[in-house]
Amino acid sequence: MPHPQLLLGDCLSTLATLPTLGYDLVVTSPPYNLGIAYKSFKDTAPREDFLKWCVAWAAEVKRVMADDASFFLNVGAAPANPLLPHQLILALTDGENPLFVLQNTFHWVKSITIETTGREQISAGHFKPINSKRYVNDCHEYIFHLTKSGQVSLDRRAAGVPYVHKSNIARWGHTGGEDLRCRGNTWFIPYETIQSRDKERPHPATFPVALVEQCIRLHGKGVETRLLDPFLGIGSSAIAALRQGVIGQFTGIEIDPHYLEAARERLQLEMDRRAGELQL
Ligand SMILES: C[S@@+](CC[C@H](N)C(=O)[O-])C[C@H]1O[C@@H](n2cnc3c(N)ncnc32)[C@H](O)[C@@H]1O
Repeated sequence: MPHPQLLLGDCLSTLATLPTLGYDLVVTSPPYNLGIAYKSFKDTAPREDFLKWCVAWAAEVKRVMADDASFFLNVGAAPANPLLPHQLILALTDGENPLFVLQNTFHWVKSITIETTGREQISAGHFKPINSKRYVNDCHEYIFHLTKSGQVSLDRRAAGVPYVHKSNIARWGHTGGEDLRCRGNTWFIPYETIQSRDKERPHPATFPVALVEQCIRLHGKGVETRLLDPFLGIGSSAIAALRQGVIGQFTGIEIDPHYLEAARERLQLEMDRRAGELQL
């Protein structure tokens, strides 16, 4: 990848410096306006103001997107504040002059329990218990796939899964004879297990690197992808670009110098780790 651009600044003014139509893929997770304790940013704006601000930066995101680009927008809710993701997506896709078409909606499942056919229960993923008599644990977030036209082609099998019953390979045309089917819109992606939160994940609201990798694969532009994350946090999307071998471009914007520094350190660690593996 050409040297990743990790830019310190406000997303609105910094996006204004980026080239029109310059990116194929945007994957980001903005502040959710749910009172999360970031180091410097106050996540407590009145909802109307927050939505107006989102429309303003999303309009800049649209400007820098190529016409066939994809914008994967990750947003979560809170049990006592369930409407935020829906209000945000309406602000971006509804009304007289909608910015985007909502092409797909994905559910990022963080924790799940399934009953197998043998009736055994398997639980997997990250589970943070809450103390409540009213609410159940919120185990998922949204990833909204927004495009300019609603007609952007995806490489569904690049993010696909093998069939359990192999007779289906010949049965369904879209497999092209390969043992891969579309994964669908429920993505089980647990957080990576870490030893020390302060050292390895010093941020209150990250998404997993694997989530961004899935978006890069699904978008299907491969290593040529020009990827943007206007809310970089501690750099999960930059690491994903590196792991996917992206050589097009990576640009990340973050307002908080501590998080940006953590992003630089994580990216350097990842580069060192990969260089070490190559030497083995
Ligand atoms: C949900 S977090 C993103 C975390 C990131 N996906 C990761 O995995 O590390 C949102 C980030 O947006 C940053 N932020 C808040 N306001 C901003 C602004 N106006 N411009 C740029 N970044 C901003 C916050 O400091 C925070 O790190």
